[in-house]
Amino acid sequence: MVKDDSAGFPLALIRWQKQAGRHDLPWQSKGRARDPYRVWLSEIMLQQTQVTTVIPYYQRFLARFPDLASLAAAPTEDVMALWSGLGYYARARNLQRAAQDVVARHGGRFPRRVADIETLPGIGRSTAAAIAVFAFGARAAILDGNVKRVLARVFGIEGFPGEKTVEARLWALAESLLPESELVAYTQGLMDLGATLCSRSKPRCGDCPVAAQCVARRQGRIAELPTPRAKRAVPQRSVMLLVLRSRGRVLLERRPPKGIWGGLLSLPELPDGKLPRRYAGAVPLPVLRHAFTHFRLDITPLLCKVSRCNTAEGCVWLSLKKLDEAPLPAPVRKILKTVAATKP
Ligand code: ADE
Repeated sequence: MVKDDSAGFPLALIRWQKQAGRHDLPWQSKGRARDPYRVWLSEIMLQQTQVTTVIPYYQRFLARFPDLASLAAAPTEDVMALWSGLGYYARARNLQRAAQDVVARHGGRFPRRVADIETLPGIGRSTAAAIAVFAFGARAAILDGNVKRVLARVFGIEGFPGEKTVEARLWALAESLLPESELVAYTQGLMDLGATLCSRSKPRCGDCPVAAQCVARRQGRIAELPTPRAKRAVPQRSVMLLVLRSRGRVLLERRPPKGIWGGLLSLPELPDGKLPRRYAGAVPLPVLRHAFTHFRLDITPLLCKVSRCNTAEGCVWLSLKKLDEAPLPAPVRKILKTVAATKP
């Protein structure tokens, strides 16, 4: 029988966080109640950005805007300037809007309830919970990308976590795991575990406090969980490209400026499956598979020796000795190199 270890999870995490987790980050004020403004600022900066990158930005920002009122009243350019280099600039704009909201709607005092925090610009459910836990000692569940990975592995949750139903399951699990006390250590422990040990590609399971109960580890499925986003089926197209060869030269056609290979010189294209009778003697060369971003193209080159041929408009005869200088798409160059290497 598989034992339900969910009760052991929060305890193991809390113990580990106290011993081995992060305790000296600038937004952690040991023992003292934390300033919600500082907690909020750090959580916004830490969205999509690593701790080591955030620290100097956090310190410069606080030196210039020591409290919520100074941020709300500042020129937006000054806020943006202090954010410059951190990326995801909507975060900075939302931060100032939220500060102005708190001044206008909450009398300048940062709201305590998760539901109120969540209404502020740039604050989603998980960030609202993190702020409520760290600033006010609330009992609320977080679920950011790192936490999704930890929970999917430890509890063997299948499915892409970005998918609605999977995410709902993970939220329910996160809520059900919440301990009765020690919410700060528990929440920080989840974040620390996800950021330091339970990394996406090289988790350090040997040091993990919950390795013994981890379903992914037990089943040897660490590389498979969390389930990656389903790859969209790539559409496939096929074409025949005519290689009309005459006395060491091949006929090339300029592609229209837009679309694939826009403006390059390419081989004349025939819709696949329809070989005009006059090319009945053409010799098909091996199929070349080329991957574009949005589709896959299977190219069948048809080699056709001609003695003389009218040159249609937009067409040129290129010597097979001058392939290197010509503006050719990579697969066409490859075909022509093969052709150049074979006897006429
Ligand atoms: N990532 C998001 N929030 C964090 C926090 N409070 N400490 C460390 N890493 C984090």
